[in-house]
Amino acid sequence: MNQQATVSVETIRQAVVAAGSSLYRDGIRPVADFPAKPDGLFLQQRSGEYSEFVHYMASMGRTFKLGLDIGVASGGQTKFLRDWCPIERTIVADLGIQHEFPHWARIKKTVRSKIELELIGDSHSRRTYDALQPYKGQIDFSFIDGDHSYGGVMRDIMLAHELFEPGAIMVLHDTIVVPDVARAYEEIKAHPDFEVLWHSKGEFGITVFRVLRPAKPVPYWRHWLAYGVGPKTLWKTLKKPFKRKKKKST
Ligand SMILES: C[S@@+](CC[C@H](N)C(=O)[O-])C[C@H]1O[C@@H](n2cnc3c(N)ncnc32)[C@H](O)[C@@H]1O
Repeated sequence: MNQQATVSVETIRQAVVAAGSSLYRDGIRPVADFPAKPDGLFLQQRSGEYSEFVHYMASMGRTFKLGLDIGVASGGQTKFLRDWCPIERTIVADLGIQHEFPHWARIKKTVRSKIELELIGDSHSRRTYDALQPYKGQIDFSFIDGDHSYGGVMRDIMLAHELFEPGAIMVLHDTIVVPDVARAYEEIKAHPDFEVLWHSKGEFGITVFRVLRPAKPVPYWRHWLAYGVGPKTLWKTLKKPFKRKKKKST
């Protein structure tokens, strides 16, 4: 077990509050239940569930080798988690257009992990897919909080699913509060390649999965079309848009 495992949830919660919340686009109201700070982390998290999540991760006593964070905004979450749970190298992917993204230039210098790759652009793009292929079988942690549409989050999961090493940890954010992500969560929960390890009791919804098996890689064009996870669901889902109703004979 690492040293952080002995820390209490309350200590982590105080650190979350000290790190500072994110602001809505109006630049005035904090996103969460704690105030923003001018040079803070701009966390888009609720203090209670996020500190419980970080505590759970720290209690694993595991050192991760390579993390992939999809949807980082300010990057505050990427930094905060790594202060409590060691992740040696990190890849981040983000559109780079959110109002909190400019903070990433400052925050990335403080992340306790080697920034292996910064993919600024659409996580569903060919460019992102190609850039991640050399890391196949090496990703042992992923935090997915990018596109919150059902198709978008499923494609991010599909991307990571092919890159994971067996036993990797995958975290989904907003599995309660965003209906499309809640739908994705229900599907992944029932998928044989994933096992739920931890699920927050309320608030935004953070779910920690263990990846029992990585997915068999499929070419990019299937990612581009897909809304499912893994070849089985993929084909089932792919068939749907092409099914034509038979014309009634008059
Ligand atoms: C909710 S914010 C992430 C908050 C951050 N994880 C945190 O905890 O503070 C979602 C981020 O995902 C990014 N995003 C949305 N769609 C994306 C896509 N298709 N590809 C890459 N990033 C995307 C947005 O630009 C935004 O920065």
